Amino acid sequence: AKKAVLGPLVGAVDQGTSSTRFLVFNSKTAELLSHHQVEIKQEFPREGWVEQDPKEILQSVYECIEKTCEKLGQLNIDISNIKAIGVSNQRETTVVWDKLTGEPLYNALVWLDLRTQSTVENLSKRIPGNNNFVKSKTGLPLSTYFSAVKLRWLLDNVRKVQKAVEENRALFGTIDSWLIWSLTGGVNGGVHCTDVTNASRTMLFNIHSLEWDKELCEFFEIPMEILPNVRSSSEIYGLMKISHSLKAGALEGVPISGCLGDQSAALVGQMCFQDGQAKNTYGTGCFLLCNTGHKCVFSEHGLLTTVAYKLGRDKPVYYALEGSVAIAGAVIRWLRDNLGIIKSSEEIEKLAKEVGTSYGCYFVPAFSGLYAPYWEPSARGIICGLTQFTNKCHIAFAALEAVCFQTREILDAMNRDCGIPLSHLQVDGGMTSNKILMQLQADILYIPVVKPSMPETTALGAAMAAGAAEGVGVWSLEPEDLSAVTMERFEPQINAEESEIRYSTWKKAVMKSIGWVT
Ligand code: G3P
Repeated sequence: AKKAVLGPLVGAVDQGTSSTRFLVFNSKTAELLSHHQVEIKQEFPREGWVEQDPKEILQSVYECIEKTCEKLGQLNIDISNIKAIGVSNQRETTVVWDKLTGEPLYNALVWLDLRTQSTVENLSKRIPGNNNFVKSKTGLPLSTYFSAVKLRWLLDNVRKVQKAVEENRALFGTIDSWLIWSLTGGVNGGVHCTDVTNASRTMLFNIHSLEWDKELCEFFEIPMEILPNVRSSSEIYGLMKISHSLKAGALEGVPISGCLGDQSAALVGQMCFQDGQAKNTYGTGCFLLCNTGHKCVFSEHGLLTTVAYKLGRDKPVYYALEGSVAIAGAVIRWLRDNLGIIKSSEEIEKLAKEVGTSYGCYFVPAFSGLYAPYWEPSARGIICGLTQFTNKCHIAFAALEAVCFQTREILDAMNRDCGIPLSHLQVDGGMTSNKILMQLQADILYIPVVKPSMPETTALGAAMAAGAAEGVGVWSLEPEDLSAVTMERFEPQINAEESEIRYSTWKKAVMKSIGWVT
């Protein structure tokens, strides 16, 4: 059969906390041509611990590439049109591996993992100078969330890691580094790098000088030789070299030329390139980022300062203010896997629709404490306001509402920090296909919510960065190149007073969740 004629294609790996995807876009229109998704296991070996198997993650990437290429073949699309590959990833999740064998030396410690709480408490007692030591350099509060303390835990507790460091065989990386190293050859010359956005989530990176910070490494006692090279978010890092029998080998020699933490990738995919433009992505967690241009803005209201992107070696860096919510989609997975009240995540919409209200039930899913704006490790999840009338549909509705209330809290913080309230919210991510959620979000924020027809904005951003890289040059980053993406708008439908009452009851519920663990 005759192969379809298309513009250059760009692939993107989107390795999230819950699943891995590989997607292929047409660089002339941003049309999504084919994709494949695989769910990733999470292990909870002890209360508060969250781990993933780095090899399973890598395998899922191969599988997604292979299946996507198969699907493209069925569409008569020539795989050799794929000119570049971008990588976006769950941030902070920490891997240490052996550069001689390619074997991970422990499971990946996932960003949600709480085992380092006592490490954080001990470190915070001996912060040099004033409490601002870490924040002023990194934009981050000292928290279990970020990689430095996870790496500290691995160095303190895992003999194999200690030995590999002593023998100069250990490499550290967030998931982007682990994937790029593996996909560019692994033990046969794999490239050990990360980009500025991922580096900015480690708590070891100076967001002003854009370098690993010697003083921070000394404070956390991290050997600097195990850290990856920090590169921009859009440049050729290496070529695909897969020592693998899979059809993923069809992409052999294609440059990997885009790399962004998933939330930065979504900011790019939503074209939020101007100061003051913001997006909210609903994944495992929920992350609202507002571009602050070349300025590092420090929050007075519990938000993080982070590197937004740097799209090329010689291009300027952009920063963002970020509101991070730990649990969004994860609460739906919990209702499915732990309570069994739904069989698939999509069923939540049907359940919520049956009742159309939580009937006074509030669900604070503080499974890993509360992140922004509270930063309260002592919080734990609660479901309250129950009566004999409450059923699983009300709980499902309350779970969706919880995602929206948490977004309202970070939006309020963002508005206070920025001074100019957002007039609408650009959203994306898997959960945005849930129409009840989108309507609830508009009602609770009391501003319009705008979502793209293609929710895979994270992957799109990584593909755009890869396609725009010097030496690739197939994506111009102009709005015309997104002609396949249309927008849908949700307007608030309740009155402002009702919206406020519901929000203030939510806040009461949040207060009850705080201080649960001492
Ligand atoms: O900071 C964690 C974040 O990057 C995880 O994203 O998409 O897996 O919820 P996601």
